Amino acid sequence: MSRLLVRDIGQLATPAGDAAPLRGALLGEVTIIEDAFVLCDGPRIVSVGRMRDLEPPDGDVEEVDGRGRCAIPGLVDCHTHACFAGDRVEEFSRRAAGATYEELHAAGGGVLATVTATRAAGERGLREATSRHRGWMLRQGTTTFEAKSGYGLDRETELASLRAIAAEGGVPTFLGAHAVPPEHDGADEYVDWLIAEVLPEAAAIAEAADVFLERGAFDAVQARRYLEAARDHGLELRLHGDQFTEAGAIPLAIELGARSVDHLEATGADGMRALAESDVVGVLLPASALFLGRPMPPGRALIDAGGAIALATDFNPGSAFCESLPLVCSLACTQLGLSPAQALGACTVNAAHVLGRAGAKGRLAPGFDADIVLLEAPDWRHLAYHLGGDLVSEVIVAGTALG
Ligand code: NIG
Ligand code: FE
Repeated sequence: MSRLLVRDIGQLATPAGDAAPLRGALLGEVTIIEDAFVLCDGPRIVSVGRMRDLEPPDGDVEEVDGRGRCAIPGLVDCHTHACFAGDRVEEFSRRAAGATYEELHAAGGGVLATVTATRAAGERGLREATSRHRGWMLRQGTTTFEAKSGYGLDRETELASLRAIAAEGGVPTFLGAHAVPPEHDGADEYVDWLIAEVLPEAAAIAEAADVFLERGAFDAVQARRYLEAARDHGLELRLHGDQFTEAGAIPLAIELGARSVDHLEATGADGMRALAESDVVGVLLPASALFLGRPMPPGRALIDAGGAIALATDFNPGSAFCESLPLVCSLACTQLGLSPAQALGACTVNAAHVLGRAGAKGRLAPGFDADIVLLEAPDWRHLAYHLGGDLVSEVIVAGTALG
């Protein structure tokens, strides 16, 4: 197997220890090695250390010159809607002129506009779009991404979306319960149909199921029915909850043992405390709150109350046309009250935990996947400090440097 040595790294930064998820004080602990190397054997890291302790490796080793740059683990985006066709720039312009996201959705725009474009794209078109979006994410340092279906909402396009995501190396999540498409007679009938006609095949491709539990989408009774059926098919559970209103997502997520509840812009003090005391990860999506002009989720309060949080982009054409986790880290520090170290842990180890991959992703340590991001910066914290900066200079995936 081919070996890769990343040498002369100015500063290597990786979440400390081996716990997952990181919560409390652990979330803020980062191990820093100055003047470092990472040695990879095939797709795995075999050693990490200081240059002065590097034993000259014998045999053939490909080298990447770190040139004093900073190395961090490949970033993990645990919440995206990267499988979609078309765009919503027209809607964006209308929102800029004062229309609200919920109004546009209620008028048949919003998610349903993307459903029309996604159905028309065909499986090949979806694969091409997902591949293009994956390329955008990689350039921002995202080496592991989750993506949801949810813009097909018919059997063929939901399954084609999940296949496209898997084919592009993403972690597929079945979001059949995203919106009720016009050919169905309300949310109850649609959920029955989803469970009977799509879930059995979707469960063979996806790793998790997700539901948009929100006023105007699915209520807690419908969400429970969908999630329990998904769990019976062996899927992990995720929820979009408390984006606009508190409609019971947190208690349901806790009761069903969901991996995460995501958004939380509308979460009040009671929900925040209950979530913090549970094993459910709160996935915070500050780019979505920013893009829609919504309140930010209670990041610092959740951490201070002992909760497990992760950060993600929510990349999608309507509420967060943003694929940049470095930008999300900046927002986490400036808007959610996180430190750069907490932000790093939240989009590496904790995001990997949400995806059931914390044993392989999210750390620069022996035995972990050789996914490495090199930052053109004198200090790794520029990741969050450089707002909208272009500092991802090289990305290594599974021990291979991308051109
Ligand atoms: O996570 N809120 C529900 N779903 C997505 C947005 C989907 C869209 O607007 O296309 C979200 O924000
Ligand atoms: Fe989302």
